[in-house]
Amino acid sequence: MASVHDKVEKNIGLMIVLVIGVISIGGLVQIVPLFFQDSLTEPVAGLKPYSALRLEGRDIYVREGCYLCHSQMIRPFRAETERYGHYSVAGEFVYDRPFLWGSKRTGPDLHRVGGRYSDEWHRVHMTNPRDVVPESIMPGYPWLAENNLDDSDIKTKMEVLRTLGAPYSDAEIENAPKMLEGKTELDALIAYLQGLGIELQTRK
Ligand code: HEC
Repeated sequence: MASVHDKVEKNIGLMIVLVIGVISIGGLVQIVPLFFQDSLTEPVAGLKPYSALRLEGRDIYVREGCYLCHSQMIRPFRAETERYGHYSVAGEFVYDRPFLWGSKRTGPDLHRVGGRYSDEWHRVHMTNPRDVVPESIMPGYPWLAENNLDDSDIKTKMEVLRTLGAPYSDAEIENAPKMLEGKTELDALIAYLQGLGIELQTRK
């Protein structure tokens, strides 16, 4: 008499249904609890949604492709935490849309670069990296200092992020274009970098 197992092995339709069932249950067991775990869904203490200026800076970071050479994800290994500071945790990224974790490190990880250098250092470095790091292979971005920020869609951006959960007040959105007045793209990018990872900074 054929065992149950023989039946499954000989009936490909039944096999497909059973395989889908097993994978679905396994997937749900792994995924569903994540929605209810506070450490993965709640912002870490002190984390604020991006200010208008930092939000613009972040978009320039994306436009210029900085994430192709820089990760923003410090792994929980000693070699990483000694170099960069506290490893990255999920609660630091709740206002990040999209995430900019990256997977390629031609340059160093930038998740805790906030406060590491002065604004002036960044100004020189972004214009021509070799002026402060002679052996650097990073490209210069001299046009950022010359381009004025385009503030035409900042309110829309913030409104969209608010519908996705960023707690912006009406006043913050209303004042956003004023915050960007007279600022260059470089000002915005530096503001973005200077706030990166400061909530859990442990580096001395
Ligand atoms: C082709 C790869 C590459 C690209 C693209 C790139 N970088 Fe870099 N970056 C590097 C390398 C290599 C270093 C290390 C040498 C140095 O400090 O210049 C570096 C260093 C840095 C540092 C200093 C980090 C530290 O901890 O010392 C910052 C900040 C930085 N980059 C920001 C940016 C930003 C912002 C962009 C996009 C506008 C960008 N980088 C694009 C390769 C790159």
